[in-house]
Amino acid sequence: MVPPSLLILVLAYSALLISPAVSLTCSSQKFTKNQVYPNCLDLPSLSSYLHFSYDASNTTLSVAFIATPSKSGGWIAWAINPKATGMAGSQSLVAYKNSSTGVAVVHTYDVSSYGSIVPKELSFETWDRSAESGSDGSLIIFAKIKVPADLATKGTVNQVWQVGPSVGEDGTLGKHDFAAANLQSKGTLDLKNGQSSSSSGGDSRLKKKNVSFPSF
Ligand SMILES: *[C@@H]1O[C@H](CO)[C@@H](O)[C@H](O)[C@H]1NC(C)=O
Ligand SMILES: *[C@@H]1O[C@H](CO)[C@@H](O)[C@H](O)[C@H]1NC(C)=O
Ligand SMILES: *[C@@H]1O[C@H](CO)[C@@H](O)[C@H](O)[C@H]1NC(C)=O
Repeated sequence: MVPPSLLILVLAYSALLISPAVSLTCSSQKFTKNQVYPNCLDLPSLSSYLHFSYDASNTTLSVAFIATPSKSGGWIAWAINPKATGMAGSQSLVAYKNSSTGVAVVHTYDVSSYGSIVPKELSFETWDRSAESGSDGSLIIFAKIKVPADLATKGTVNQVWQVGPSVGEDGTLGKHDFAAANLQSKGTLDLKNGQSSSSSGGDSRLKKKNVSFPSF
């Protein structure tokens, strides 16, 4: 017979064991080159993580975005949308593993509209771009971004992220899923306080128009 006091102790201990669930997953993620970012966020959908630092003196944002393509051989993307909250207009960093070389690469895409997703330089400066692949199938996008002055003044940027299943020989991105998680993967990134809010339920403007997402 277990004494009641011991039982309470055991229950209290289990509660302690469970409580780490509220702590961030991202804070346990380490980088192979020991890069350090003071802020990290467990993004609210697609099991994605953003590590970042922001230097307000020169409006430079350094990011490491971690996600796992929806299928092996797929892609991940992280974007700033300078003018809107959804995908259209997103200035995107996309990573995938080149199937012939096995090397993870980053490319930039300007999602000017839902029908036009083309590899392109972004509307703001980015540098130190690189990608890494993890043994668990995840990919990481590293980049530094010169945040445009108007967004820097506001102190927040609209971020969008996505994962997809495949990449064509010519770099064409295979369509991502249309599940709720894929449509809710956007939010506001607070540059100064390191906190993020995500829009729940998606963009009502887009819902009304019932647009579909052709591919990222
Ligand atoms: C801003 O300053 C940081 C160091 O604090 C530096 O790494 C970065 O390259 C600078 N950005 C620009 C655009 O000069
Ligand atoms: C993969 O790498 C090869 C060799 O560098 C290159 O020719 C090809 O365009 C790359 N493919 C993609 C999809 O990036
Ligand atoms: C949106 O389009 C889909 C597919 O064409 C359709 O099944 C759905 O009913 C539409 N929703 C609205 C709100 O119009």
